[in-house]
Amino acid sequence: MLNRPAPEVLEQLRHIVGPAGALDQPQDVAPFLEDHRKLFRGATSLVLRPDSTEQVSQILKLCHAHRIGVVPVGGNTSYCGGATPSSSGNEIVLSLARLKRIRHVDANNYTLTAEAGCILASVQQAAEAVDRLFPLSLGSEGSCQIGGNLSTNAGGTAVLRYGMARDLVLGLEVVLPDGRILDDLSGLRKNNTGYDLRNLFIGGEGTLGIITAATLKLCPLPRTYVTALVAVNNPAAAVELLSYLRGSGSDTLSTFELIPRIGIDLVCKHITGMHDPFESVHPWYVLLEATSAQVTDQLTDEFSALLTHAQESNLVREVLLAQNSTQRDFFWRIRESIPEAQTRAGGSIKHDVSVSISDIPKFIEEGSTACQRIAPEGVLVIYGHLGDGSLHFNINTPDAGAHPGFFAKKNALNAALHILAKNYRGSISAEHGIGQLKRDELATFKNPVALQVMRSIKQTLDPHGIMNPGKVLTTS
Ligand code: MLT
Ligand code: ZN
Repeated sequence: MLNRPAPEVLEQLRHIVGPAGALDQPQDVAPFLEDHRKLFRGATSLVLRPDSTEQVSQILKLCHAHRIGVVPVGGNTSYCGGATPSSSGNEIVLSLARLKRIRHVDANNYTLTAEAGCILASVQQAAEAVDRLFPLSLGSEGSCQIGGNLSTNAGGTAVLRYGMARDLVLGLEVVLPDGRILDDLSGLRKNNTGYDLRNLFIGGEGTLGIITAATLKLCPLPRTYVTALVAVNNPAAAVELLSYLRGSGSDTLSTFELIPRIGIDLVCKHITGMHDPFESVHPWYVLLEATSAQVTDQLTDEFSALLTHAQESNLVREVLLAQNSTQRDFFWRIRESIPEAQTRAGGSIKHDVSVSISDIPKFIEEGSTACQRIAPEGVLVIYGHLGDGSLHFNINTPDAGAHPGFFAKKNALNAALHILAKNYRGSISAEHGIGQLKRDELATFKNPVALQVMRSIKQTLDPHGIMNPGKVLTTS
């Protein structure tokens, strides 16, 4: 049972961080009370902004002793309300924004140690400054923080080649719920010394402790990019193209994103300066990118030949190869503007599901039929990271949000698509996490034994349940 913080405890918490680290005025606290998608609103009397791991440790120690809930927040870009406090007002919010130092860069070891509050783009820049790549790449990289990326095991557009956030971490520094500091900031690739603790906190969404710093894996910096927008008949052709390119090319493909026709239409209609770069209208598209650390024309030659062959064998309808960085940026902007265009079109009921890559075409077909049965008025906007088997299976409101009853079908649409994903042995959350949005569904969809193990781990590390209450796991 958690407590409301008593005035003297609030005073002690303020004292830990000093005047620069505590916010309690309504206008300062307000940004922390609502999630990015405006699905959840909470309350708190105090937002703490510690500027050292030691301060985080002292805060958790005190909150553990007084049974006070703590909600960690990074860039507040969660799609699942993962960093929004409950409406009880009993929890304090702990922002990592002031822990923003790059502690160490080791170019020869291909590692970088960053504090949790570093903006993802600044981690990428710090890597680039020593001629390296930090490959995690997301639409929100200009504002999301690395601590949040790791806590939610973020995915993004380069998972095909580099993996999820968890694949890019070698070591972590974590403050445990009782305030102990677990310093495991190792830069080792080989370290077989028992349980892999870091993977409890990566994807733990702040329910087991607070990640305060991480040693991240770097990769060679690409110097040559081949970026193409390719039109295809259907998702099956896209899957076949992916297989063909991976099997025939060198292992250089880093992005393979599926885009539906409606995605292009929405972007052209709602995003300034955008147009359809093709002359003809096509039903589906793929944004693909291959990179090499060498400065070479060979990669472009190789991909032009492969794509020409794919076109000659009717696997693809039309190919646009970016001729320069402006065109490359434009192709990327089309893909990355889809979420914003959907919002401007009135909003959508979103899903973030994954199945095996080979099951994607059937999943899209069966999922579309199910959604049309439930909400025939809805506009299907199905796009995403085909290269790793994950899709944003979104259903837009038909008429700028004015359609009566459309959003009331949310639960029915969620259930239909999540049951379908389960039938395909897929996941109800590919890359956005659970937060509070999918907490109750997780209790239904996750394997019961896995849930029991998760609960035991939670009980062991956080016996009073102070860490990010109400997220990921239901309390019973
Ligand atoms: C994306 O891939 O664009 C985001 O993860 C999902 C979204 O914003 O809908
Ligand atoms: Zn995504």
